Amino acid sequence: MNLIFLGPPGAGKGTMAFRAKEHFKIPHISTGDLFRAAIKNETDLGKQVKSILDAGNLVPDELTTSIVKERLQQPDATNGFILDGFPRTLYQAKALKEFSAIDSVVNFTITEDEVIRRLSGRRVCKSCGESYHIEFIPPSKDGICDKCGGELYTRADDQIDAIKNRLSVYGESTEPLISFYKNEGSLVNVDSSQHPDKVFEDLKAILK
Ligand code: AP5
Ligand code: MG
Ligand code: ZN
Repeated sequence: MNLIFLGPPGAGKGTMAFRAKEHFKIPHISTGDLFRAAIKNETDLGKQVKSILDAGNLVPDELTTSIVKERLQQPDATNGFILDGFPRTLYQAKALKEFSAIDSVVNFTITEDEVIRRLSGRRVCKSCGESYHIEFIPPSKDGICDKCGGELYTRADDQIDAIKNRLSVYGESTEPLISFYKNEGSLVNVDSSQHPDKVFEDLKAILK
């Protein structure tokens, strides 16, 4: 199953991808995670994209697309994958069509107010990448990941100015993909404002 998870920042794409990758036994490929790993490891790519991510702007299309193209050629992606955060522009969507067939595009719907609440309270595990929320999905022990015991941190782009910029970039560059994939006949909507267990139930039902 080749899936795209679409939706505004903070919609819960990563949270649902964590559950879905285990359930469907397919890899979770998040361009945001790939960039953040490069930044952490101080690679050339990391140095190139750090200020872009911190501000909430988009990494250039050609660069992002070539990274995804290469990642999809890895053996673990031959039986399916979840693309989280890619494509994000019409350029990327059209490029993807040239090197991969997609079965479903899941559009996670949510209001802007809810996005701001979610992102301002997000904490992410440094070791395994699991997302928490200080109010909605708190870890059992403050600052510690339930799954692996790793330390939780706040993403650099979860500051209010960067959140607002990400929302406007989303509206301008990524939202048009909803009609693009609607026209292709592969779009399904999931109401992401519900409890995470219910969002995941809906997701499984719709992908059956
Ligand atoms: P990326 O990492 O993709 O960030 P994003 O799109 O802004 O999305 P988020 O990760 O913020 O949101 P999410 O939907 O995954 O939400 P989450 O599950 O964590 O991209 C980062 C940057 O990388 C971009 O700004 C850009 O610079 C660059 N980039 C990446 N891809 C690119 C591309 N293709 N082209 C160009 N540049 C690119 O959930 C959010 C919070 O809500 C968490 O705290 C979570 O615990 C909580 N939560 C989740 N679900 C629920 C629920 N149902 N109820 C209550 N709380 C919930
Ligand atoms: Mg994410
Ligand atoms: Zn962890």
